[in-house]
Amino acid sequence: MDANEIRKKFLEFQVKNGHKVIQPAPLVLEGDPTTLFTSSGMQPLLPYLLGKTHPEGKRLADVQPSLRLQDIDDVGDPRHTTVFEMLGNWSLGDYFKEEQIRHFFEFLTQIVGLDPHKIYVTCFIGSEKYGISKDEETAQIWQKVFKEVGIEAKIAEIGSADAGDKRGIKPGERIFFYDDHENWWSRGGGCESTPIGDPCGPDSEVFYDFGEDKQDIEKYGLSHPASDGARFMEIGNSVFMQYKREKDGTFSELAQKNVDFGGGLERIAAASMGSFDIFRISLLRPIIEKLEEVSGKSYENNTDEMRVIADHIRGAYLLAAQGLVPSNKTQGYAMRRLLRRAILRALDLGIATNFLAEIVPVVSKIYADLPDSILTQREKALEVMLHEESAFRKTLNKGLKELHKMAKQSKDGFLGTGSRRPVVTGGAPLATSVVTSGAPQKASFRLSGQDLFKLQDTYGFPMELSVEECYREGIKLTENYHEEFDAALKEQRERSQTASKGMFKGGLEDHGEQTIKYHTATHLLLAALQKLVSPDIAQRGSNTTAERLRFDFNLDHKMTDDEKKKVEDQVNEWIEADLPVVFDEYDKEYARNELHAHGQFWDKYPDKLKVYTIGDFNNPVSREVCGGPHVEHTGVIGHFKIKKEESSSAGVRRIKAVLE
Ligand code: ALA
Repeated sequence: MDANEIRKKFLEFQVKNGHKVIQPAPLVLEGDPTTLFTSSGMQPLLPYLLGKTHPEGKRLADVQPSLRLQDIDDVGDPRHTTVFEMLGNWSLGDYFKEEQIRHFFEFLTQIVGLDPHKIYVTCFIGSEKYGISKDEETAQIWQKVFKEVGIEAKIAEIGSADAGDKRGIKPGERIFFYDDHENWWSRGGGCESTPIGDPCGPDSEVFYDFGEDKQDIEKYGLSHPASDGARFMEIGNSVFMQYKREKDGTFSELAQKNVDFGGGLERIAAASMGSFDIFRISLLRPIIEKLEEVSGKSYENNTDEMRVIADHIRGAYLLAAQGLVPSNKTQGYAMRRLLRRAILRALDLGIATNFLAEIVPVVSKIYADLPDSILTQREKALEVMLHEESAFRKTLNKGLKELHKMAKQSKDGFLGTGSRRPVVTGGAPLATSVVTSGAPQKASFRLSGQDLFKLQDTYGFPMELSVEECYREGIKLTENYHEEFDAALKEQRERSQTASKGMFKGGLEDHGEQTIKYHTATHLLLAALQKLVSPDIAQRGSNTTAERLRFDFNLDHKMTDDEKKKVEDQVNEWIEADLPVVFDEYDKEYARNELHAHGQFWDKYPDKLKVYTIGDFNNPVSREVCGGPHVEHTGVIGHFKIKKEESSSAGVRRIKAVLE
C-alpha cells in the first residue's frame, strides 16, 4: 500500500469508527509566539484537550503535515525527515486506552497489512518523583490484543534507553516499560520539561521490526525498541493525555481523559514495503530518482546527500505552497535554511547549476492530494523557490570572486596536501559551471585557513567549496589550512564569549537580594513596554542597584502619562500573578528563531546561551537572553513604580523605577 493510499484508508477507518475528519492546520502558525511551525497533529487541538468543547465532537481525525526542525541534523539517516505527515485521531474525553490500542492494531495489521509478529510496543514505567504510577493497564491490554492473534507477548522492564542498549531483548519479549524520556509525552518532552499549563500523559509507542541484521551493535549496543539503531522504527504513538502540568511543577489529573494519537505516514508506508529506508516510499522516491537523473549519480553511492536534498526541498516546497517566502526572520529564515542546505548538498553532488526548476514540479505532483485549503499558493511556490536559488547562487559567486581576489593579493605558499579531489572545473561562475573532475593545475597563488575562514564568515562561502575551488584553479593552500581554519573559528568563538560574558552581567551592580528583584522587574518592564508602547522597543542600556533600576530603550517620543500608567499597571499585574521565572541553556539559533528570546547582541553571543522565561513557558510574558540571576517567582518583587521617564540620548529614553 503506498503512502497516498494509507493516508486515505486511515481517514476512512477513522470515519467508520465514528470520527469526524477535521481540516489540518497550516504548517506556518500565525499569531502563535511560542512555535514556528505545526509539529504535531495535537498542536491546534490544545484548548480542546484541556476541556474546551470542539464543534465537531469528541472523536476527531486528520492528517497533519508537520515540520520538526530539531531533527534537521539527523536527516541523512534512513528514517529522519524534517517534514512528515502525521496521521492523527483524538478522543476528547470519549474512548480511552483499550479502544485506541485495539483500533491502531487493527489498522496496522488488517488494513495496512503489517505482520503482527513484527510489531513491538512500549509503555510508561511510572515516575516516583512525580507520583505517577506505572501504566500496567496499557501493558495488559497489549498482552490481550497480541494473544488474540496467537502471540504470547512477554513484558520487560527496561527503564532508560541506555539500560536497553546493554540489556537487549529476551526471547518472547514484545512489551517494554521505559522511563519518561521514552514514554511520556508533552510538547516539551519528559516529565521534567513538560511546559506549565500543557496537557500531557503516558504514551504507548508502536515499533516495526526490520530484522536483527539491521542493528549495528558496535555503534548502538544491543537491539531494543528505543535504541537508535535501525532494527526498530517507531511508527505510531498513542498518548493518554490525562494530566496537566501545574504552575508549581506538579501534575494534576485532567477532568477529561483524552487520547492523542500520532502516526508517521512516511514510516508506516516504509514498514508496509518492508523498507527500513523511508526514502524509498512513494512520497520521496520520485524526488530521489529525479536527483539521480539530474546529477548523473546513484542513490546507492550518494545516499546521505540525496536524502538531505530530497527532504529539504520537500519541506521548502510545502512552506512555499502555503505562501511563505524566504527571509532572515523566524519561519522565513527556516525556509531559507532548508533551501540553502539543499543547494549546498547539491553542490557536493556536483549539481552546480540551478536545479530546482527540475525538482520542484516532481514534489508538487507528489503532493497533489493535499487539500487546497493548506496549499493555497501551489502556483507561486516554484517562482519563490527559483528566486531564492538564484539569489543564493549569486551570494556564492560573490564569495568565489572574493576568493580569487584574495588569491591574487597573496604572493607565495605551498600546494595544499588535502586529499579531496577537485570537482568543479571550467572556470565559469558556480551558477553556470559544469561539474567534472580533473587534475589540479599548476599552483600560481596561498591562501591560509584564516582566509578561508574569512570567506565563510563574511561571505557565507563554505570552506569545503573554497578548498575545491583552490584545487581546481591551482591556488596554493597553506599546508595546515585546516588547522588554521579551526583555530580562527575557535578564536572567534572565544572572543564572542568574552564579549558576551561582560554583557551577561546585565548591568547588575551586585547580586544582593534586592538587586536581583530589580533585575527581574527590568525584564518585566521591557516586556510591558514592548506589549503596550511599541513591539520594536529594545534594551539600549541597563543599570540596577539595590535602590532602583535604570533602563534605557529606543523610542521616538516622550512617553505619555497614560503610557507610563499602563506600563506600571502591567508590571504590577505580572508581579501579583506570581509568575514562575525559569532559565535554561539553549543553542543560539534555537533561542533566537524558535524561542524568540529577546537579545541585544546576537552577533556576539556564544553558541550556547542562557535564556530566562517569565510566565507560561509556551506563552511567556517575557523571554530574554540573560546571565541572571533572577528571583524564582515574580510575587516576591514588591510594588513597581516609575519615578522618572526622560531622554537619555537621541531616540533613546530612560526610565528610573523603584520597588516599594
Ligand atoms: N502528539 C503525539 C506525538 O507527537 C501523538 O507523538
